[in-house]
Amino acid sequence: MATVLPCTHSSSFKFRLLSSNSLSFTPFNICPLRLYSKNRQSFKPIAATLSTVDSPLTSIDGNNEKKKPLLEVTGLTAMIAESKQEILKGVNLLVNEGEIHAIMGKNGSGKSTLSKVLVGHPDYEVTGGSVIFKGENLLEMEPEERSLAGLFMSFQSPVEIPGVSNIDFLHMAYNAQRRKLDEPELGPIEFYAYIYPKLEIVNMKTDFLNRNVNEGFSGGEKKRNEILQLAVLGAELAILDEIDSGLDVDALRDVAKAVNGLLTPKNSVLMITHYRRLLEFIKPTFIHIMDDGRIIRTGDASIAKVLEEGGYKAISDS
Ligand SMILES: Nc1ncnc2c1ncn2[C@@H]1O[C@H](COP(=O)(O)OP(=O)(O)OP(=O)(O)O)[C@@H](O)[C@H]1O
Ligand SMILES: [Mg+2]
Repeated sequence: MATVLPCTHSSSFKFRLLSSNSLSFTPFNICPLRLYSKNRQSFKPIAATLSTVDSPLTSIDGNNEKKKPLLEVTGLTAMIAESKQEILKGVNLLVNEGEIHAIMGKNGSGKSTLSKVLVGHPDYEVTGGSVIFKGENLLEMEPEERSLAGLFMSFQSPVEIPGVSNIDFLHMAYNAQRRKLDEPELGPIEFYAYIYPKLEIVNMKTDFLNRNVNEGFSGGEKKRNEILQLAVLGAELAILDEIDSGLDVDALRDVAKAVNGLLTPKNSVLMITHYRRLLEFIKPTFIHIMDDGRIIRTGDASIAKVLEEGGYKAISDS
């Protein structure tokens, strides 16, 4: 993801590129860098082993070829920084390169919290476990570093940024990424040439570039805009939190086509959804069921069918 954060120190209102490659925006009241540094000190890695409910280490689709791990989450626990309430209670998850994972689960089971913890959202404090991304300790990285390492998150509820045009926002974030990578920044005309074909990918009209970020956008337009951010910034792991919510069937098709078009044998997707409909358009390698801050089941698409027919009770009974 790339989240641009406002640091509200002093009277100036600045945006900061948070983790990854979406340009989602989160209105934090306090500069997240400071909070995040504080969180890091309280993090204690613990040893944890994968249990039978974790993602299998080899593919269950019949392909036993050893795949390269992209994200390895082990025994991850985290609480809400302010209230100290524990939300994640030992999450284990393995995402290999080129895999698509879906996380499903009841409202409030911790799916969005997991995503936000992965990108370093300052509302949460990691209290245990480990997260390895591309062989590096993700939890030791600042949110920006996570973004530059190839992590992207689209938020469940993208926030509006009054007064900042979509194109300026994307341009700024894209150039911030290029600066960090020691690549030359793109001027406005070059950037327009770069972004124009991306609009087609998500089937968005050019007018959306001049409108303020997400301001007055319909629910579906906001979701398309998230995918535009992903298309602009790219990602090795794209975390899509309910990218399907509020989309009509055509928009869902466009979004799924855009996501599928961005996939490569090395890039992976972790998508959170409540509905099998999305999984028909973006076929997952694994589906995980989350409950009370843990992944309690992992399986193939048949889980989603059981879920649709019998609800979460059917999953626990099966
Ligand atoms: N910043 C926060 N402040 C207070 N409570 C929080 C915060 N973040 C998460 N929670 C609580 O943690 C629990 C898990 O929330 P989370 O958003 O992760 O659920 P979810 O699985 O994504 O649910 P949904 O399917 O409804 O999106 C909920 O009870 C939620 O109210
Ligand atoms: Mg959620």
